[in-house]
Amino acid sequence: MSSSLATVAYIGATILFILSLGGLSNPETARRGNLFGMLGMAIAVLATVLGPRVTLDGVGYIVGALVVGGAIGLVAAKKVQMTQMPELVALMHSLVGLAACLVGFASYVDTSTKLQGAEKVIHEVEVYVGILIGAVTFSGSIVAFGKLSGKIGGKPLLLPARHGLNLVALLVVIWFGREFVMAPSVDAGMTPLLVMTVIALLFGIHMVMAIGGADMPVVVSMLNSYSGWAAAATGFMLSNDLLIVTGALVGSSGAILSYIMCRAMNRNFFSVIAGGFGGGAPAPKAAGGAAEPQGEVQPVSAAETAELLREAKSVIIVPGYGMAVAQAQHTVYEITKLLREKGVNVRFAIHPVAGRMPGHMNVLLAEAKVPYDIVLEMDEINEDFPDADVSMVIGANDIVNPAAQDDPASPIAGMPVLEVWKARTSIVMKRSMASGYAGVDNPLFYKDNNRMLFGDAKKMLDEVLGALKA
Ligand code: TAP
Repeated sequence: MSSSLATVAYIGATILFILSLGGLSNPETARRGNLFGMLGMAIAVLATVLGPRVTLDGVGYIVGALVVGGAIGLVAAKKVQMTQMPELVALMHSLVGLAACLVGFASYVDTSTKLQGAEKVIHEVEVYVGILIGAVTFSGSIVAFGKLSGKIGGKPLLLPARHGLNLVALLVVIWFGREFVMAPSVDAGMTPLLVMTVIALLFGIHMVMAIGGADMPVVVSMLNSYSGWAAAATGFMLSNDLLIVTGALVGSSGAILSYIMCRAMNRNFFSVIAGGFGGGAPAPKAAGGAAEPQGEVQPVSAAETAELLREAKSVIIVPGYGMAVAQAQHTVYEITKLLREKGVNVRFAIHPVAGRMPGHMNVLLAEAKVPYDIVLEMDEINEDFPDADVSMVIGANDIVNPAAQDDPASPIAGMPVLEVWKARTSIVMKRSMASGYAGVDNPLFYKDNNRMLFGDAKKMLDEVLGALKA
């Protein structure tokens, strides 16, 4: 393939990636967005493999790597549960970071193209920055994988003088950057490069370890952004325009998503990065910590739940992580269909950080064929709870916790929540009194108008459906 044809193919792929991102912004066009993305990636890979920069000898290696990598990806994607998706994504981000590091080292030791003067300096800065971003992304994503899969606890690790440590690390990285660019030979430059890589790896670990459970949604999208910048840095090192553009698209969309996540959780982006929020167990009350919920919970049966739903005119369903675990979305849809046929106004309220990844609930409800027009975002529906007869919480906890509004000492204080307790009756469906991801007690369970339907969401909803049909 000639170089001009490869350039045209790259431009085509870039346009498809932009259309893909545009499509993914709405559930109705998401499928098309995905198709555009796949087509763009196929064109990008073909144009690169058949392009002028890959020799015939190299094609064998690339095809071999594609087969091995593709097979691993296929098996992983087929085996992974929907609830494990965020962990898989974190692991994938770590691979982008690792690739950026490896490409950086390879491109530094490759002296086949003799660069001089400013060109040499620019190339070395690209290598240094590329490896820096890649190493932070790599180790940060591995820790995020550990936290999301529960292998590492959600409690933030707050080292004394951590901001000072980070500042010193930054200054050392800048100083070694100067040493690296000034180094007279590849051998001499290797030491500052390796020292910086180790510091960047430690910084990545420290950064994500310092972030509390409740802030993990922001971290997931932030690492998504970093992986984009790492890919863009790889593009600079390899002088590949498409990789630069694609990396920048992923990097900037990830940054925008992080901003949206922060706004949804009423958090300042910089205080998230500084860490410490959502530290799990609340402090004791005597020390001014979160108040312990008081009172008794009122359990309810599936038959009584069906009765409450049958008598309601307006029902708002709040899905959460537990619905995903139980794979209860199809039964939720069956119940919705039945109630709507009986004239009940059924709507869904989606919290921006419900579940374990952005858009988690939307994907599950779309899969179960719930109509998009009854699935509403928090801002669109939160004021409607006082007019609802029943709010039904399915496997959600943190996102419906009134302590976020009422208790300034709560670890999630200030996070906007769905005000389900304002409905005439709220029903919370979960297996036990256990806390949610942020590890915070929930006073909703003890409210007078709240009922608890204990059990696995799928099993209980099947029983509710059976009772509704009877
Ligand atoms: P959570 O607060 O984690 O609560 C989920 C609840 O589901 C648990 O309390 C659990 O209680 C229940 N559950 C688990 N399995 C169940 C099953 N089979 N049947 C019925 N219930 C079940 O979830 P949420 O309300 O969706 O809030 C999301 C949380 O995750 C937030 O803290 C958010 O910050 C965090 N987070 C979100 C993201 C993104 S991007 N969305 C990423 C990382 C972290 P039982 O054990 O008693 O059943």
